[in-house]
Amino acid sequence: MTLYIDCCARENSRTRRLAKVLLDRLGECEELYLYKEDLHHLDSCGLAERERLLQNGELNAPRFKYARQWAGADNIVIAAPFWDLSFPSVLKTYIENIYVTGIVSRYSEDGRPVGLCKANRLFFVTTAGGPLDERYGYEYIKTLATDYFGIKKVMLIKAEMLDVIGFDAEKILQDAINSVSKIFDA
Ligand SMILES: Cc1cc2nc3c(=O)[nH]c(=O)nc-3n(C[C@H](O)[C@H](O)[C@H](O)COP(=O)(O)O)c2cc1C
Repeated sequence: MTLYIDCCARENSRTRRLAKVLLDRLGECEELYLYKEDLHHLDSCGLAERERLLQNGELNAPRFKYARQWAGADNIVIAAPFWDLSFPSVLKTYIENIYVTGIVSRYSEDGRPVGLCKANRLFFVTTAGGPLDERYGYEYIKTLATDYFGIKKVMLIKAEMLDVIGFDAEKILQDAINSVSKIFDA
């Protein structure tokens, strides 16, 4: 099963349009539209509750449902536009909710993270108004996924320069859509 994480705020999101082409290739999926999910960033109450549940070994608690869903997915697709050199904050809030030690990751005896996630592939789909800087969005997600969650392959699917005058946004997007087909037809 593919888990699709939609972090696209705009109704006519170009990032979502690109992601849908990929999803068509991956088949059945479970979709989370993060702006409609009951997600809260970790505050003092949330942290205390999380601590209590972890100390009691209650990994099946409702609070950890997103973490369990993430850990059990076969493929993961994240669609997130490039915002302020990174991605929309709702995605960081989601990460605070899924990063649960004992579900998505554990620590080895020498203190190193060991991933517990089932997924072989994570696709990060993004579009940018100008040039895409991969350091604070894609690279962060990639490091988290490979080094902490144990997801073997992380791929970037992107379309950039979409808001720059003189650039043909529709053609750039179409080229990105074609690049998705190439991944599967190769
Ligand atoms: C809040 C906000 C922040 C943005 N920040 C950047 C940015 O830092 N760099 C950039 O190149 N484009 C930036 N953009 C432009 C978007 O990346 C671009 O329009 C993108 O294609 C939007 O994706 P969407 O069509 O899926 O909403 C920003 C747009 C918004 C609304």
